[in-house]
Amino acid sequence: MSKYLVTGGAGYVGSVVAAHLLEAGHEVTVLDDLSTGFRAGVPQGAGFIEGRIQDAASYLDPSYDAVLHFAAFSQVGESVVNPGKYWENNVGGTLALLGAMRGAGVRKLVFSSTAATYGEPAEGPLTESSVTAPTNPYGASKLAVDHMIAGECVAHGLAAVSLRYFNVAGAYGQFGERHSPETHLIPLVLQVALGERESISVFGDDYPTPDGTCVRDYIHVADLAQAHLAALEAASAGEHLICNLGNGSGFSVREVVETVRKVTGREIPEVLAPRRAGDPATLVASARTAHERLGWTPSRPDLTGIITDAWNFARTHAS
Ligand SMILES: NC(=O)c1ccc[n+]([C@@H]2O[C@H](COP(=O)([O-])OP(=O)(O)OC[C@H]3O[C@@H](n4cnc5c(N)ncnc54)[C@H](O)[C@@H]3O)[C@@H](O)[C@H]2O)c1
Repeated sequence: MSKYLVTGGAGYVGSVVAAHLLEAGHEVTVLDDLSTGFRAGVPQGAGFIEGRIQDAASYLDPSYDAVLHFAAFSQVGESVVNPGKYWENNVGGTLALLGAMRGAGVRKLVFSSTAATYGEPAEGPLTESSVTAPTNPYGASKLAVDHMIAGECVAHGLAAVSLRYFNVAGAYGQFGERHSPETHLIPLVLQVALGERESISVFGDDYPTPDGTCVRDYIHVADLAQAHLAALEAASAGEHLICNLGNGSGFSVREVVETVRKVTGREIPEVLAPRRAGDPATLVASARTAHERLGWTPSRPDLTGIITDAWNFARTHAS
């Protein structure tokens, strides 16, 4: 059994990973300021500290074996309007966390990075050596943290894994997605199914994709959680390992909307809207590194299954 600090463990992904760690028999403490998370998202059996990662030095001690770091702001649009908020929290907060870990002698880290570090890719499935050219402050802040972590590994022997998530979706029992405002496609379409939203906007249908709408790589949040457990095992002192996490195959916006119609049996009115600036036609991961280095393969790649789990969560947590 190991002891883990989970920053952001009251949020969507952090709560699911915390639940998996507890199920695997580990001791978990969640550090979260509840800025976008929910107290009820902290799984039963986990300790809870309501606090900021900026103050991590007050909470970390040598009894922890590792930190899993989810705490961040992650709204792309907001980051464009208010970039300072993103540098302060995502970069400043992580800088403080890395210092606190060094001070307490906690020498292992798993970090939530993102496909947004790559920007608008020119070529097919993205590998970890694809060009990183983020198109917004959110992606830039996450890339800056990846660079900070790399330096910490070289200079101070940290063992670190950055997991670059593509589009996280689905739910794990009582733990699911509740962002406010919501910007992710699947929960937005489910809001239409629930009657909380009139229609779903499809931003452009003239992309060079099979049906003209954007293609994204959706990864089940429980598969993502398994990758975190594997990353804790694979982390090695002095190495910064970066792994993309996706299914390796994409689904178009129209396929997602159609699948929600099938799963929910509800009408989903669609409104065609102009393309959004900075939306690449296709964003799909090559998860070969995760497969080779973490021994990880997604076990729930099926879109119907992902949406069914998200729907079961959404209709029991409707606002
Ligand atoms: N959801 C996705 O599709 C996705 C994709 C790529 C990367 N990510 C990354 O995964 C992580 C988790 O995403 P999520 O969707 O669960 O977001 P979320 O907003 O649901 O969770 C983030 C949590 O961090 C907490 N938090 C934020 N700043 C904090 C601070 N300074 N101190 C303490 N707690 C703080 C929030 O209260 C919240 O509970 C984020 O780092 C995000 O950038 C998510």
